[in-house]
Amino acid sequence: MSVRRALPDHDPAIAELDEATRLTLAALWEERARSEINTGSAFARVLTGLYEVGAEASVLDLAGRACTDEVRHAGLCAELAGRYRGEAARPLEPKRVHMPTHVGAPRALLPHLHVVGLCCINESIAAAFLDACLAEARAESVQVMHREHLADDVAHARVGWAHLASRAVDDDTRRQIGELVPRLLYANREAWRDRIATLPEHGVPGHAYPARAALMAVVDDAIDAIVRPGFDAVGVSVRR
Ligand SMILES: [Fe+2]
Ligand SMILES: [Fe+2]
Repeated sequence: MSVRRALPDHDPAIAELDEATRLTLAALWEERARSEINTGSAFARVLTGLYEVGAEASVLDLAGRACTDEVRHAGLCAELAGRYRGEAARPLEPKRVHMPTHVGAPRALLPHLHVVGLCCINESIAAAFLDACLAEARAESVQVMHREHLADDVAHARVGWAHLASRAVDDDTRRQIGELVPRLLYANREAWRDRIATLPEHGVPGHAYPARAALMAVVDDAIDAIVRPGFDAVGVSVRR
């Protein structure tokens, strides 16, 4: 998608902070920029997997946009970090990420499992996570960034749901995916828990993240209220 929003030239909510808090926030947003660029790399690999399994053109289109959306997110996070640090944004460090190996799964299932893990599960949770962050954001720069990401992440989750609902996935593949979804949900929840554990315990009200406990509750709610019903809706049966 094209760039839709820019950070404000001046944000009084950032200017009024003490230097130590600004540097803490700068480091948090720089780490987030790394995470976003890595997600872009993962989307590029998901995109090639979707070609491999004959995904529909509309799904390829959505996945292609996601690749560049994540690069834009990374740039916006780096720019935001620069605003907190009081310097120009630091350059991004792109790399090729490794995808989950899904030991024991049939080779032909891997591209489907990668799209399920990244899009149906991770991006659905990410959208709920961003919604919770946006609700507590007071600094205009942070609100702008969260709004931009939230709108995109809803579309990124749709890559997975649209693929599973398409004719590129037959009933037997849906059944095999359903058998492995509990394992994917467990691994994804663990990854979110590990990531949340690196954030400040009580959050940074108004400028970054809500408290850790609240964020973990958001992850669990998203799994139960968005992800599990999503699999039901596209005919992927997941045991509890
Ligand atoms: Fe993103
Ligand atoms: Fe995303």
